[in-house]
Amino acid sequence: MQQTVKVVGIGGSPRPDSTAERALRAVLAEAERQGAQVSLVGGAELVMPLYDPRDQLRSARALRLVNEIAGADGLVLASPAYHGSISGLVKNALDHVEELRDDARPYFSGRAVGSLAVAQGWQGGVSTLAALRDVTHALRGWPTPLGVVVNTETTGFGPDGECTDQRVRSQLETMAGQVVDFARMHLRASAREAAGVDVLAPAGK
Ligand SMILES: Cc1cc2nc3c(=O)[nH]c(=O)nc-3n(C[C@H](O)[C@H](O)[C@H](O)COP(=O)(O)O)c2cc1C
Repeated sequence: MQQTVKVVGIGGSPRPDSTAERALRAVLAEAERQGAQVSLVGGAELVMPLYDPRDQLRSARALRLVNEIAGADGLVLASPAYHGSISGLVKNALDHVEELRDDARPYFSGRAVGSLAVAQGWQGGVSTLAALRDVTHALRGWPTPLGVVVNTETTGFGPDGECTDQRVRSQLETMAGQVVDFARMHLRASAREAAGVDVLAPAGK
């Protein structure tokens, strides 16, 4: 039986229904179609005080963000390109992952992380995507092989949330599948390890 994995999407901008959040919803919808349980921490929910390591987390939004990440088997990050990189809103959210330093699964450990950048052009989109993947590395996550840039000059989302560009839609779906597949593989390997099964032993041993 296939285990249910939880995929959490984080990102967007404070503008309701931002393109980054629409793209993020499309990835989560595909992950759900593939059997994952999904949850979104969107742009409006990321409006919170700047992360200060000296503070004890007090805001309900910060606590929810950290709890959602701690409970995730896979993650999807989405940021608009702001001056060639991750927006301050999304970077501040990622800084809060420091709260998981001493967690049983520290930071993003053991999770595949899909990244998508939304920009009004290619240059800022590509540099923002690279920045999201660098942060994922720094947080000990596993960036998915495919990351996605949504260029708003050429691509949008219809009223039903569907991406207008078939190729980008296909990329968003592929990335969702990579997050879900990795989460399932990791969960299976952890369960076998807990049961004392040597997954590297030759078959039949
Ligand atoms: C402060 C700011 C800085 C921006 N910098 C860039 C940039 O460097 N490169 C780029 O392609 N787009 C840039 N943009 C455009 C946004 O990335 C783009 O409009 C956004 O991702 C899509 O808008 P939406 O998510 O609100 O729908 C910037 C927008 C703002 C507000």
